Amino acid sequence: MGKIRLDKYLADAGCGTRSEVKLSIRKGKVTVNGENCRSPEQKVDPEADEIEVDGIALSWKKHEYLMLHKPAGCVTATRDNHDQTVMDLIGGTKRKELFPVGRLDKDTEGLLLITDDGELAHRLLAPNNHVDKTYFVRVSGVISEKGAEMLTQGMDIGEKSRTLPAKLEILRQGECSEALLTIREGKFHQVKRMFHGIGNEVLYLKRLSMGSLTLDEGLEPGKYRELTEEELRSLREEVHLNE
Ligand code: URA
Repeated sequence: MGKIRLDKYLADAGCGTRSEVKLSIRKGKVTVNGENCRSPEQKVDPEADEIEVDGIALSWKKHEYLMLHKPAGCVTATRDNHDQTVMDLIGGTKRKELFPVGRLDKDTEGLLLITDDGELAHRLLAPNNHVDKTYFVRVSGVISEKGAEMLTQGMDIGEKSRTLPAKLEILRQGECSEALLTIREGKFHQVKRMFHGIGNEVLYLKRLSMGSLTLDEGLEPGKYRELTEEELRSLREEVHLNE
């Protein structure tokens, strides 16, 4: 994990907002390895340093949240005998409990949340929570008007129930067409099956967002970073975990 700023550590640990914890530090309420520390920018090692606020020791923050730009070619699993997994891309962490939230196909790229927070994962994936997922999709052929209507109104893809109405924004029509599709469920191969159902085959698929969490385009495929406090706060709020 490495060293992080003291104020970030305290904010992540739930001791208050970044400005509240800065104030506590400046007021001398925080000690690092028994020494009073008044600089919020001091670097601490959360796994090695003993940090106390008002004389109360903090345990290391409960969970880890990583945004991965999944590349094509690896499978969304924690272990696989044949293929590289998304977890093989996560290096340097001592945590063994991390797992991907939801699943992207081997050839799908884009946003994947990796965490050890089972409660958040469960809520994001719960079928009744209807968290929006937006995909950039390139398909064969022109997306017909009738096809577009089926995608947006809900359609039969061979499941017990029809898909929920999706949002479609067509970006380009031609020999191959491009669009943004936002769905609120996560049925197996859902986007591919929806387009197949209207006569267009998916040639390329990339997830751009899940709820309020948007893929950081600065992240190269295969790279990851921690969620910011704001990203985590919005995501938790969305699934009613902040109340
Ligand atoms: N829909 C699909 O068809 N594949 C994915 O990977 C994600 C959504």
